[in-house]
Amino acid sequence: MTHPTVAVLGAGSMGEILAEGLVRAGWETENIILFVRREERAREAERRTAIEATLDPAVAIDERDVLVIAVKPKDVEHLLRQIEDLVRPGQVVVSLAAGVPLNVFEEALEDVAVVRAMPNTPAAVDEGMTAFCGGSHADDDALALADMVLSAVGETIRLSEDLLDAVTAVSGTGPAYVFLLAEALTEAAIREGLPHHAAEKLVIQTLRGAGALLSVSDKSAFRLRAEVTSPGGTTAAAMHMLEDGGFRALMERAVRSAAQRSRELGEIALEQAGTEK
Ligand SMILES: NC(=O)c1ccc[n+]([C@@H]2O[C@H](COP(=O)([O-])OP(=O)(O)OC[C@H]3O[C@@H](n4cnc5c(N)ncnc54)[C@H](OP(=O)(O)O)[C@@H]3O)[C@@H](O)[C@H]2O)c1
Repeated sequence: MTHPTVAVLGAGSMGEILAEGLVRAGWETENIILFVRREERAREAERRTAIEATLDPAVAIDERDVLVIAVKPKDVEHLLRQIEDLVRPGQVVVSLAAGVPLNVFEEALEDVAVVRAMPNTPAAVDEGMTAFCGGSHADDDALALADMVLSAVGETIRLSEDLLDAVTAVSGTGPAYVFLLAEALTEAAIREGLPHHAAEKLVIQTLRGAGALLSVSDKSAFRLRAEVTSPGGTTAAAMHMLEDGGFRALMERAVRSAAQRSRELGEIALEQAGTEK
């Protein structure tokens, strides 16, 4: 299957991560274009990615197979006003905007296949996790095109739209949970007397190794943990302390709070869509 042509609308962190990932995955740079709103941004993005950047939405959108919306949720409405008369049925719009519901896009872009996706930043090293859902005009071909683009930077999963707030809270926000764990574990290691560079190396490789083991093993996280926890041993002492300190309840509250914030952002996006029409 040949690669679909792609326009990335909004070349900030996520837009550039995806565009660069497409190139690593074998897309020709001339089959990708970046749409930006500032000349300076265009030059920066072109220098970093070697992909053409344009300030003209018509040039960006013209006959591209897939249009990836990678602006902040608050900028979605303005972008939609810029592109609504340019997008044609047959093109597939893939939105990465956290919390912005499919119907915001479908109301602006009649009869166009829209896919809403939630990626995460490990996409920068082709280890992303993206969940996506299709709108009412997204048939199997449109979903396959969107999946092809999104899976250039990692794994994908198709879910129903009502689950995307939970996805945002788990895998979208998830890298930050792991980074916080890395920070806390490194600080604890230093307090136990380890030199800074050694503490960082131990923590990074432990997270990487545990993640790799979990992903290739046919055992669950629970089983892998049980196997390294002998009664009365060192891991048991640490696990007891974490459970006693409410680690699970805290994780649950963090995820619930991120999902709630995602729902609130979605509501704000819907209100904005209503007022800007
Ligand atoms: N970063 C993440 O971890 C992550 C994870 C999942 C989903 N997302 C989603 O990805 C989207 C982008 O996030 P980000 O972190 O990449 O934000 P970002 O770094 O701020 O990038 C957004 C880019 O969009 C550009 N832009 C805004 N309005 C535009 C317009 N009308 N025309 C052209 N360009 C426009 C901005 O231009 P300027 O440079 O001129 O401001 C900026 O470069 C968000 O909707 C976010 O919810 C991000």
